[in-house]
Amino acid sequence: MSQVTIAHRRRKSLPPGDPHGYGEAADRSDRHPEEEGSSVTKRRMWVLLPIVALGLAACGGGDDGGDEGAATPEETGAAGGGEGLTVGVSWNNFNEERWAKADERGMLDVFGEEGVEYISTDAGSSVEQQATDIENLISQGADALIVLAQDGTAVLPSVEAAADQGIPVIAYDRLIETDKAFYLTFDNVEVGRMQARAIYDLVPEGNYVFIKGNSADANADFLRSGQEEVLTELAGCEAITPDNPDPNCPIKNVGESYTDNWAGEVAQQNMEQFLTQNNNDVDAVISSNDGMALGVIAALEAQGLAGSVPVSGQDGDAANLNNIALGNQAVDVWKNALELGRVAADIAVQLAGGTTFEEVSLTGDYGDSAPAAGPDAQPFETPGGTTVWSIILTPIPITQDNLDVVIDAGWVTQDEVCQGDVDTAAVPACA
Ligand code: GAL
Repeated sequence: MSQVTIAHRRRKSLPPGDPHGYGEAADRSDRHPEEEGSSVTKRRMWVLLPIVALGLAACGGGDDGGDEGAATPEETGAAGGGEGLTVGVSWNNFNEERWAKADERGMLDVFGEEGVEYISTDAGSSVEQQATDIENLISQGADALIVLAQDGTAVLPSVEAAADQGIPVIAYDRLIETDKAFYLTFDNVEVGRMQARAIYDLVPEGNYVFIKGNSADANADFLRSGQEEVLTELAGCEAITPDNPDPNCPIKNVGESYTDNWAGEVAQQNMEQFLTQNNNDVDAVISSNDGMALGVIAALEAQGLAGSVPVSGQDGDAANLNNIALGNQAVDVWKNALELGRVAADIAVQLAGGTTFEEVSLTGDYGDSAPAAGPDAQPFETPGGTTVWSIILTPIPITQDNLDVVIDAGWVTQDEVCQGDVDTAAVPACA
């Protein structure tokens, strides 16, 4: 049975020197691939609160708006009223750095404030396992569910089963094509626009490769649509698709692929093929997230092209922010997933308390990540033509010019960002 014993172990083992409380717990990807099935982890949060507050305070000191300080109810938006509630979270995986490091931590912050029991599962990127997990969480008494979907369509029957039993569901970060789930995410189309804008500024003409995310994840196409919108607009092209229909377009699409499970090693293989197919004549790479960008940079490195071919990313993974400082990656669109986790927990408590999707409203202060549309739930039109209730947070593009933003927010340390042969004249945050 795969085991996901999260908060308990990490919370207790928070060494004062570990500013983000991430430690080794953040890297969970190798925890349980070989095991079958997953079991539900239970955690009654109020027991740990004093320990947590102590640990976090030791790691971050004052409430400077930085994430590592002990979050206050005002900051976390904890509205109160979570006592006695159980919230179940079905994670499709913990492969990427953000999920354990930030998303789950944000949720635990609020569940701790609210005295909510947190139960969770990890489906190990399996659609079948996720269906079993959701059944499990329901049978364990979840009053609300938060679902990070492996496949936004395949998970539909599980969501409908929960809704039919009166258990509200939050589609976390990734769209689930039904109005029976409340949709909470960042503006993924805007993430794609930000990636394309930064790369176009550096490469207004030339050969582009597009490394997209997992095809079963709606975010993959949201990102690509934002990239396409900006590039066609700025370059004055009809389209920049693999068939390159516009002969006058200064940008040529010389490679485009989805990437199974957003896996870095798969992205690296695809990039190696695109380099071979184009005799290394590639001028820019739009990679949709950081995990894949590392694979792309490794492929470029092998051809002596790292640093001369601009690459984009997303998520603000520490290694990628360091690549920004080193000049190997041009932009990293940061999504403060700690805030997304906090908002999810806040909404779960509201919904479990009887609030309808339409009445959902945020009370916390989410800084630059706050929803552009304001604190109240908004209707969102899905690609499938469904209208769902939603809250959409704001992403922030990070380049060599503003690495201080993620350092000051406590997301990464200056040491992590500035290690290696960084040109401190070009990178103010490392000066
Ligand atoms: C997406 C998410 C990204 C990303 C990816 C891989 O849905 O929005 O931040 O990292 O999944 O898990």
